[in-house]
Amino acid sequence: MAQQIFVANWKMQLSFDQSCSFIQYNLESLEQLALNKTIVLCPSFPALHTIAMLCEQSPIAIGAQTVSRHPFGPYTGEVSAQSLSEAGCTYCIIGHSDLRQYNHESNINIEHKLKELIKNNIIPIICIGEPQEHYEQQKTYQILEEQLFGNLEIIKQHEENMSLFIIAYEPVWAIGSNNTPPTNILADIFKWIDQECSKRTKVHHLLIYGGSVNQNNAKELLAIEHVNGLLIGRASTEIESFRAIISA
Ligand code: 13P
Repeated sequence: MAQQIFVANWKMQLSFDQSCSFIQYNLESLEQLALNKTIVLCPSFPALHTIAMLCEQSPIAIGAQTVSRHPFGPYTGEVSAQSLSEAGCTYCIIGHSDLRQYNHESNINIEHKLKELIKNNIIPIICIGEPQEHYEQQKTYQILEEQLFGNLEIIKQHEENMSLFIIAYEPVWAIGSNNTPPTNILADIFKWIDQECSKRTKVHHLLIYGGSVNQNNAKELLAIEHVNGLLIGRASTEIESFRAIISA
């Protein structure tokens, strides 16, 4: 069985100082947990390099929350995949629903970002998930197809240069809501994602669930077939709940 992976998406919840303090106080206890689980911390851009330096001698990996679709150039406010790699990132989240919602990020844009990550040997964590209205209209699979298949095609084209990709299924209506989908629905969705990934590319994949993960539901979510780990928002910014989730 693949080693479980726990991705902390700190979003804009922790400031630079708070992110550094989190590591200074908690690195040792996280290192213990990282002996047999993969832990990826995704701080905001300004903290990335400092956190990467603080974790340099540890098994904790660092990820970014997004990346530019461009390799370099006059794109104010953007950060290239090359810079992320040089700053110590080995993972990067793309397609998060916060950006799809608030920045109107399109599937095409996300696919460009994926190409940049592949070129720079950064493991992509590709987020997919349906909004509330589509869940209610039972259009989940249609939305997931639209979000997933273009990315899988790109991965297929770059199989020689890739060893791993991660798909994070985060239903938009579950994020920050204290609601998670019923386990049987999740089991069907993860089975379908796993089948589609295996059918379309031979690159190894891991599947993770995100959306209101906490210390009370982590064990049940991790027990679902094909769920290899969790993408955690709020509960990853408190060491007690983050530790409890990883130990579930
Ligand atoms: P919450 O765990 O706060 O619901 O956030 C989930 C998320 O968006 C992680 O990427």
